[in-house]
Amino acid sequence: MAPYIFKILRFNPKADPMPYFQEYNVELEPSDSVLEGILKIQDEIDPSLAFRYSCRGAVCGSCAVVINGKFNLACRSLVKNVKTEEIVLEPLPNLEIVKDLIVDLQPFWKAYEKIRPYLIPKVIPEKENLVSPKEERAIDNFINCILCACCYGSCPVVTRDEKYLGPAALAKLFRFAGDIRDKGHTDVLDEIDIESGTWGCDTVFKCVDACPKKVRPTDGIEALRRKTVLRKSKRLIGVK
Ligand code: FES
Repeated sequence: MAPYIFKILRFNPKADPMPYFQEYNVELEPSDSVLEGILKIQDEIDPSLAFRYSCRGAVCGSCAVVINGKFNLACRSLVKNVKTEEIVLEPLPNLEIVKDLIVDLQPFWKAYEKIRPYLIPKVIPEKENLVSPKEERAIDNFINCILCACCYGSCPVVTRDEKYLGPAALAKLFRFAGDIRDKGHTDVLDEIDIESGTWGCDTVFKCVDACPKKVRPTDGIEALRRKTVLRKSKRLIGVK
């Protein structure tokens, strides 16, 4: 066991006038995760601390926070790997704080709903619709997204334009629109062919740096742009 200092941003909009940092001293094994530290603080020191988690295995995305200025999942960040004296935890930016480390994800989910995040085949195939390894590779990276919203929190376009769909929704759209089995996302591509959709990204790769699963949303957005330009060009010359 070794001593660790956690400095956690506390804020209850219904009770506190301003957010503030609260310090906790906690004994942990170096191989413990930041989430285990938060759970220990809640169990043994301060039951009023609010945070979100579920799977503890880097799958559900619900424990995403900012750890010493970097976006990450609390359950997959080991305390021994945080190379500073204090472990500073803050909620994801660009989203309203509900309490402490919990943010309101409604805008993130609304954007996700808008892109219709499921395969839409033209007809249900009678036999297995095979996808070649090459076709799968084109969308593979975006399948790995666990919707933790780290990219949404890091995006400077979301900060200045609340209508912008954000990196996760747009990259997921390419995951489906770029799937050779999908025939139904053409309407969505047309709907989001606007500044707050396909064309909003500043291409500064903040989302790529923020993603704890090594997804590259900017690449997905670029692919969407190429797809949109190609569709429009074909329409212009009358090719289906
Ligand atoms: S608790 Fe599910 S990703 Fe961390």
